[in-house]
Amino acid sequence: MQYGLFFFVSLVFFGFTGVNTYFDISKEDVELKIPKGFPKPVYTFKNNKLSPEVFVLGRRLFYDPVLSKDSTTSCASCHQRIAAFAHIDHALSHGINGLIGKRNVPALQNLIWNDAFMWDGGVNHLEVQPLSPITNPIEMNESIAHVIVKLKADPAYVAEFKKAFGDTTISSERILKSLAQFTGLMISSNSRYDKYINGEDTFSLAEKRGLELFREKCGTCHKEPLFTDNSYRNNGLKPDTSLKDKGRGAITGSESENYAFKVPSLRNVEMTYPYMHDGRFRNLSQVLDHYGSAEKYGANVSKEMYEIGPLSDQGKKDIIAFLRTLSDKTFIYDRRFVDPSVK
Ligand code: HEC
Ligand code: HEC
Repeated sequence: MQYGLFFFVSLVFFGFTGVNTYFDISKEDVELKIPKGFPKPVYTFKNNKLSPEVFVLGRRLFYDPVLSKDSTTSCASCHQRIAAFAHIDHALSHGINGLIGKRNVPALQNLIWNDAFMWDGGVNHLEVQPLSPITNPIEMNESIAHVIVKLKADPAYVAEFKKAFGDTTISSERILKSLAQFTGLMISSNSRYDKYINGEDTFSLAEKRGLELFREKCGTCHKEPLFTDNSYRNNGLKPDTSLKDKGRGAITGSESENYAFKVPSLRNVEMTYPYMHDGRFRNLSQVLDHYGSAEKYGANVSKEMYEIGPLSDQGKKDIIAFLRTLSDKTFIYDRRFVDPSVK
């Protein structure tokens, strides 16, 4: 009975005040903590001082469809938290008006260690990156000028910008900086793999064998601890004749980089299916079949691909067992990144 009454009272209290500590962000929540063993980040927040208010504004914008032309599509429509901010089950991204994009939605994690973004590295700054989806006609199809008009018309946003930046000016710079604080703090470093490396957890025999094989066959490109070396490689996929996506080659104009794509991090890879820039593989078993197969397409396939050689069924299973240790529940369920509008 007493608990019932307490529950009722708190319901009324929270209902009136709108206070819900679950979504509160403290100064400590926005401290940049470089995980043990990680290199120095590329994006350091030096010109974008971390603060709870700016982070909260970035979080609100990330989850708000107001950034799209018809207010249907938010960043989070494509970048789902439960999938490490990739899009579960969609091979190609789905944008405004049900339009289908031409690439698979990548996970958002450890972005401050990226020297460039997108599957082809076409964007080189975390703060500039959101302009691409906002203005892309098949993603959010909006202009930043019109986003500003809409935000200015919303008193709640005007108040939040004032809280975050000291005055009510709403500018593209402020929008982009706040989004960068939110996405930049998405750091995944607490998987079982990390605990194993730090001596806080043990691996099964299969996981140990998987890690060893992984280091031998995959580790040059998917380099620890970020599981990417930030390079662009052709890993021998058969070019998709309908999408005709030349990847890095289309950015640099260099033929030798045609069909090379950014080496994606494999952290949380268990959750980010389907796989590859076009989402062609539904599961990790198909990915391992590709790596273990002799069929490699293209003149510029990375030499490491030929060094992998055939993989036994046991070897594939072991690598997959290891890859699953990269899942980071603390990251997926981190309350800082939860959609605040569901409270
Ligand atoms: C319609 C789906 C869609 C929406 C909406 C969307 N994204 Fe993306 N996002 C993608 C896709 C697809 C890519 C990969 C694009 C490419 O490689 O060309 C991507 C790439 C990114 C990357 C680069 C990740 C990396 O590791 O290179 C970041 C960061 C990002 N999005 C953040 C955002 C933010 C912030 C928003 C909201 C302003 C947003 N996205 C809205 C689909 C979407
Ligand atoms: C020569 C460098 C290289 C090597 C070696 C390599 N990969 Fe990759 N990997 C890539 C590139 C590049 C991509 C993205 C290709 C694309 O989308 O077109 C990729 C994509 C992947 C993906 C899909 C991730 C996602 O989010 O879509 C997985 C899983 C993967 N690799 C696992 C492995 C495993 C396991 C091995 C070892 C058996 C391995 N890779 C070896 C370069 C490499």
